Amino acid sequence: MNKNLLYSVTALFDTPDGIIHAAEAVRNAGYKRYDVHTPYPVHGMDDAMELKDSKLGFITLGAGLLGGAGVFAFISWVFLAAYPNVIGGKPYFSWPAFVPVTFEITVLSAVLLTIGSLIVFFFKFPNNSHPLHDTPYMKNVSSDKFGISIQANDPKFDEAAVTALLSSLHPLTVAPVFYDEEELRHTWTTFDPKFLALLVGVALFVSGSTYLHLNKLLYLPPFDWMSNQNKFKPQTPTAQYDDTRMMRSAPDGTVARGFIPYPFKGMPDSAGKYLVNPLQPTSEALALGKTKFLTYCSPCHGNFARGDSRLRGQFPNPPTLHSDKVRNWPDGNIFHVITEGQNIMPSYASQVSREERWAIVHYVRALQRAFNAKESDTQ
Ligand code: HEC
Repeated sequence: MNKNLLYSVTALFDTPDGIIHAAEAVRNAGYKRYDVHTPYPVHGMDDAMELKDSKLGFITLGAGLLGGAGVFAFISWVFLAAYPNVIGGKPYFSWPAFVPVTFEITVLSAVLLTIGSLIVFFFKFPNNSHPLHDTPYMKNVSSDKFGISIQANDPKFDEAAVTALLSSLHPLTVAPVFYDEEELRHTWTTFDPKFLALLVGVALFVSGSTYLHLNKLLYLPPFDWMSNQNKFKPQTPTAQYDDTRMMRSAPDGTVARGFIPYPFKGMPDSAGKYLVNPLQPTSEALALGKTKFLTYCSPCHGNFARGDSRLRGQFPNPPTLHSDKVRNWPDGNIFHVITEGQNIMPSYASQVSREERWAIVHYVRALQRAFNAKESDTQ
């Protein structure tokens, strides 16, 4: 301990009220460089010390804006210049798709830079020593006492006056705190070679053992997860084909497993002539048809297929399905329109399965019958 280098004069109190009172008294006496240490946050302390709002929030804001703008610019560069790809038919600059990543990176950079600047600017990294460390004062205030410490570098500081002021506040103890000589000699113990060697050792051990586990031990033959195969990777060139592309598209006419090709593409008349509804008009089939009709068809054609949907006026008006034309169509024609679409009505083949399409046809038939009932239906 260096008796010549005074850091501060400290006083310990027993109660939160005592420390608030002491903080007010020290503030009123005009001291600026002092601090209060308590085992838990004491309400009213900010006002007692007249603390201003922390400036850390501005760093957080700046870091968030910087990170957000940076990653947005980066994604835009990737999609516009570095690797332009048409995804789902959307334009290259589809900014709504960038929002989730931009949001995440905004939060991430705000958090990381806030903590980083807290450590560097406020805690003065890499200086990890402080004269209050390891003092009886610090031991007390981190368990059950409340302390105040007036620093010697305060412009108004005078050891005798400060000691007198603190003593007048009925403290438990008043004690000076001196700089530690050893800490003064090499302040930055963060860069102590032994400590750095330990860090490097831990880093090498952790990464080395992780590497051995995940890349060697888990892949000992023969339990190598079939990772060792002769194969070509996508997006790499190959000499095997003239166009050097490794990713091949399926040959013309390839049919996926379980997929039945539709033979009447562009041939509504043939569809009407040859296709027969394979479903019986059971109550299950009608119930299925009703559900699917209300989901996929009613938005345009209306709940009763009368062409009076809620989209009327916002979309070229879809026709009624109760026209003589559609009523006299064979089932296959309706199936064909759902499968292929017709003019501006799109195909519903990808949303509605084959079976569901035929169920819808039954349901449309039931609706048509309901609105044009025959005499015999009433009996
Ligand atoms: C996006 C709106 C929309 C949806 C959804 C829609 N249609 Fe259509 N549909 C139309 C339009 C518009 C026409 C008229 C097309 C034309 O101009 O030939 C039409 C035509 C038809 C026709 C032929 C009518 C005629 O007179 O030529 C049938 C049958 C039909 N739709 C059935 C259905 C069925 C069944 C569904 C549900 C699977 C369905 N539509 C879903 C908009 C829609």
